Amino acid sequence: MSEEPSVVTEAHFRYLAQRTTQEDAFLRDLRVSAAKAGIPAISIDPAQAAFLQVLLRGAKARHVIEVGTLAGYSAIAMARALPPEGRVLTIEVDPKHAAFAKEWIAKSDVAGRIAVHLGAGKDVLKTIPDRSADACFLDADKGSYRAYLDECMRILRPHGLIVVDNAFAFGQLLDEHPTDRDVPHIRAFNDYVPTVQGLQSVIVPLGDGLWVGVKT
Ligand code: SAH
Ligand code: DHB
Ligand code: MG
Repeated sequence: MSEEPSVVTEAHFRYLAQRTTQEDAFLRDLRVSAAKAGIPAISIDPAQAAFLQVLLRGAKARHVIEVGTLAGYSAIAMARALPPEGRVLTIEVDPKHAAFAKEWIAKSDVAGRIAVHLGAGKDVLKTIPDRSADACFLDADKGSYRAYLDECMRILRPHGLIVVDNAFAFGQLLDEHPTDRDVPHIRAFNDYVPTVQGLQSVIVPLGDGLWVGVKT
């Protein structure tokens, strides 16, 4: 028998967030400016960013692939957790998002570590060699998550990390009548992940939920 998990309430989440490494002024400004530029406010939250940094530092990651750049928030956060020679290749299909991200990445402290690739996730992932990345972060179109995960299993080196956002389907995961059309995709992905051979995974309740896996 194992112990029953503790019930985690909103108050607990506030408590956790207050005791997690906070976002710096640069990333706060980036979020505010992105919203002013009409970019949706759907970047990962500061606790998710801190968690990604802990994972990447722990794994001594050097080469990271991201699908879904948006304004560059997560790419900059991840790049900061890499050694100076580390690289984030981030893929974005929307030219407006890619242009905004490039502008902010250029003024960041990690400009030399990030390459923004304009294109569709599936097309760009195909061009990345086998076993060449230490970590993949997936945060783009939910209907492609399964295809992205399969490509990432090829691209990752053994013991490589995979992190995927939105396991809680924008808060609608368990709703009887969800309004967002991505909810079925997310549910299907939640059921698919534990069946993937050679992947150990867990769902972590930070932000809108993160799948975290390691290639075994
Ligand atoms: N990771 C970002 C948030 C990403 S939001 C952060 O936390 O800061 C999702 C992004 O995925 C949006 O910018 C959207 O334009 C992009 N996207 C959607 N479909 C895509 C596709 N097929 N290929 C690449 N990017 C895509
Ligand atoms: C959406 C996408 C995301 O990755 C997210 O974290 C929140 C919302 C969206 O497409 O609406
Ligand atoms: Mg997301």
